[in-house]
Amino acid sequence: MFEIADIHCHMLGGVDDGAKNTDEMKIMLDIAYNDGIRHICFTPHFKTYHFKDSDSIKAYNKLADDQFEVAKEYAKEKYPDLHLYIGNEIMYHAGVIDSSDANLCRRINNGSYLLVEFQPEITIFEMRNAVSKILRKGFIPVIAHVERYTELVKKPNFAWELKEYGALLQVNASTVTKAKFGKTKAFLNFLFKKSYVDVIASDAHSKDVYKPIISNAAEKISKKYGEATAKRVCCTNPIAIINNVKLF
Ligand SMILES: [Fe+2]
Repeated sequence: MFEIADIHCHMLGGVDDGAKNTDEMKIMLDIAYNDGIRHICFTPHFKTYHFKDSDSIKAYNKLADDQFEVAKEYAKEKYPDLHLYIGNEIMYHAGVIDSSDANLCRRINNGSYLLVEFQPEITIFEMRNAVSKILRKGFIPVIAHVERYTELVKKPNFAWELKEYGALLQVNASTVTKAKFGKTKAFLNFLFKKSYVDVIASDAHSKDVYKPIISNAAEKISKKYGEATAKRVCCTNPIAIINNVKLF
């Protein structure tokens, strides 16, 4: 099995709705390492409407930085071949990219890739506008859990358009392993058959429910769509994103 990289997870202790504290963060790092994950980019939520002002964003970022240091110390001791990075998962809404606060959000490993999520009910029209706005700002949007947006799932052909614009599509590992029937399964099949999926990530939030596990999804993808595809979406692409290497 290849080295797995996870560019979307909420493991920093006590920062967002992910790991509750440092202890849970360490357990999650253990789970990830045992799963074969060797590169982790922490992506705490960044929702500007949750912050009172710029100072509260700075305080949030400081908390994330402090936890990041604790995680790096822990990994250095226990898992010297585990590489850790930091970014954010930015919740898109009108104005967020233009606001001065947007400069306080972190792109993946301080490169050009911006992990962005939308409200599930976003229209394709709004998503398209958001993607072009982010690109005009000079960033490359990585659309988080692309299987979550109702209209896109109903009209999967538009995924091609988003990719044509220059967006990358990320699917959650748990959706790959759990989607057994219905629209989501059909949507994932469509995306994989067309090679539209760029990245699989854990979106891990805890040690118990949404765990930092990707290997099960990698195995399933490998069986269904071939090992080259599994390697591309679980290893090569996410590592390229972390290293700010252009994929197209
Ligand atoms: Fe997330």
